Amino acid sequence: MNIGVVRERTDREHRVAVTPDAAKQLMAKGFEVSVETGAGSAASHNDDAYTAVGARVVASAADVYSAAGIVCKVQAPDADEVAQLRSGTALVCMMNAWKNEPLIATLRSGGVTAFALERIPRISRAQSMDILSSMASVAGYKAVLLAAAASGRFFPMLVTAAGTLAPVKCLVIGAGVAGLQAIATARRLGAVVEAFDVRPAVKEQIESLGAKFVEIDLGERDTETAGGYAKELSDDAKKRQHEGLAKHVAQSDVVISTAAIPGKPAPKIITDDMIATMKSGSVIF
Ligand code: NAI
Repeated sequence: MNIGVVRERTDREHRVAVTPDAAKQLMAKGFEVSVETGAGSAASHNDDAYTAVGARVVASAADVYSAAGIVCKVQAPDADEVAQLRSGTALVCMMNAWKNEPLIATLRSGGVTAFALERIPRISRAQSMDILSSMASVAGYKAVLLAAAASGRFFPMLVTAAGTLAPVKCLVIGAGVAGLQAIATARRLGAVVEAFDVRPAVKEQIESLGAKFVEIDLGERDTETAGGYAKELSDDAKKRQHEGLAKHVAQSDVVISTAAIPGKPAPKIITDDMIATMKSGSVIF
C-alpha cells in the first residue's frame, strides 16, 4: 500500500501531513511513502529529510495521486486535487465536513473513502489523533505571543530604578483547550489574567492556572452539551454576557477570544461599544 503526501495549496498553510519521522514509522509498518517535492519545506522538512528515511520524493502531485492508495493532507482538497483522486483511494485530512457538504458529496460519488480528522471522537484512546486539541494548544499559545508582540507594554510587572511598571491585564474569553493554553502562556509571561467561559465547569481549571474566573449570571444553567461543549446562548444570556464582560474588556490591555461552538460560527462577543471603552494601544486577538 502506497501512502501519498502532497504539498499544501492553501495560502499561508505551512504544515505537512506526514513528517519524515512519521514517514519512517509508516514504512516500519510496511507502507511505501511517496512525497511531492517541496511538500515539507514550509514546515522545515526538506526533501532530503524524507529521502534519508527511505521515502520516495516525486516530482509532482500527479505522481503522488496516480500511485497512492491513501492520500494524506492537512487542508481539504481543492477542485483540482479532488479531480485527481482515483476511485478507491482513501483520503485523510481536515475537511470542515459540517460546512463542506458539496466536497463530501463529490468525494462520495467519486468512490473516495474520506476520513475527516476533525470528526474523530475525542476519546482517550484516540488522543494521539485529536487534531482539534493539538492545534487549539498551538493557537492559544501563539495568540498570546502575537498579542505580546503587538502590545506596546511589558507583560510582567517590572521594578526598575526609574520606577515600577504594572503588569499587563489580559482577559481570555472561552477557556477550552485554546483558552487554557492562552491563560497559561500569559501567566508565564507575567500578565494578570482573568477569564470567562459559559461552561461553569471550567472555573476550577481557570483558577488552577492562576487566573481569576469572571463570574457572570447568564440566567441559564444549561450551557453545556452532554459531550462537554458549549451551547449557543439565548438572546437574553448573550445580553447578560455583554453587560457582565463590558467592564472587564474596558480594563484589559489584551483581550483574547477563543470562544467557539462546534459546527457553528464563533460567537461575536467583543462589540464596537466595548472597543470604544478600551484604552488606546490595547490589543484584541
Ligand atoms: P471549543 O473550541 O468548541 O470552544 C472553546 C471554548 O469556548 C469552550 O470552552 C466553550 O465553552 C467556550 N465558549 C463558547 N461560547 C462561548 C461564549 N459565548 N462565551 C465564552 N466562552 C464560550 O472547545 P474545545 O476547546 O475544543 O473543547 C472544550 C472542552 O472539551 C474542553 O475544555 C474539554 O473539557 C473537552 N475536551 C475533552 C477532550 C478529551 O476528553 N479527550 C479533548 C478535548 C476537549
